Amino acid sequence: RPPLGITALGAYAPARVISNADFEARLETNAEWIESRTGIRERRFAAEDEFTSDVGVGAVRDLLARDPDALSEVDAVICATVSPDALMPSTAALIAMQVGLTGVAAFDLSTACSGFVYGLSVAQGLILAGTARRVLVVGAEALSKVVDQDDRNTAILFGDGAGAAVVGPVPQGYGFQQFVLGADGAGGSSLYIRCAATKLPGGFEMAPGVGMNGREVFKFAVRVLGDSGNEVLAKTGLTSRDVDWVVPHQANIRIIEAANERFGVPMSRTVVNVDRYGNTSSATVPLALREALDDGRIQEGHQLLLVAFGGGLSWAAGTMRW
Ligand code: ACO
Repeated sequence: RPPLGITALGAYAPARVISNADFEARLETNAEWIESRTGIRERRFAAEDEFTSDVGVGAVRDLLARDPDALSEVDAVICATVSPDALMPSTAALIAMQVGLTGVAAFDLSTACSGFVYGLSVAQGLILAGTARRVLVVGAEALSKVVDQDDRNTAILFGDGAGAAVVGPVPQGYGFQQFVLGADGAGGSSLYIRCAATKLPGGFEMAPGVGMNGREVFKFAVRVLGDSGNEVLAKTGLTSRDVDWVVPHQANIRIIEAANERFGVPMSRTVVNVDRYGNTSSATVPLALREALDDGRIQEGHQLLLVAFGGGLSWAAGTMRW
């Protein structure tokens, strides 16, 4: 049986650029504070009528522009998102319909910023079980629609975007090696997106928007990125010296730097684009991967380490040879 990996990859970011200075007019904040605390200079916001399924379809269309046959043999679609068009139907079903995959399996996966890496592992499982031949994994978010734009603690952090990958057979010596997935609901109240009525460990709330304890999330993120990165490298039989590129979840440049120290890979071998897109949750890893492939940093045969953390709290790390 051939190994499994990513056989096609696309990405999309909405056209509307929101700079740090754009927040100064309506929030008590300043561009310098945002950049120095987070590393973010600008992010993209979807148009008023552009929702997560549309952003996700943008990434699939990019994938198809690069490889028109990429969706043949796809018989399952997973959309990793925490900003779905609706709680029901799944955003995956809406994306599948728009790209001509009507009738295939489709479901959403809710592990926040870990969602894309989780999705790759779930796709691998569906194929290994014989349920699917190839799986389309989309990480798509329109977080600008769910974040309270009057809350300076969260509004400045997030952006909109999507990535789409087809998972399927790849030649020997390439593709996925190991995954490490985890979650701890005890940290659920450190980072959450409210429902109309929301119950969390410790109580319930009735209000929209993102709730976040930034310092708690920061500490959790550094620890879990470091630990899960080291764990997946050990599981693969690799050390940090074997890693050509780390592709981390892009939440905050300081989190990435601190986590890198924990697994001992220099920033010169780490893909960073949080400065231009902010935190696009499940879309950050495929957006960063696509960018580093397009500019030639990541090349065939390179050893990659993917690491992500998010609401749940959750984490996901994976090793793969590109
Ligand atoms: N502009 C100006 N001041 C601000 C802003 C803002 N936008 N936001 C907060 N402040 C203030 C705070 O109120 C605080 O004031 P105080 O000292 O009077 O209370 C001060 O700035 C310092 O706040 P800290 O929380 O200490 O700042 P910190 O250096 O921790 O940075 C940040 C805050 C950027 C949120 C950081 O904690 C962080 O990045 N945490 C992780 C958040 C994250 O990654 N979330 C997404 C997770 S991924 C997912 O699943 C979606």
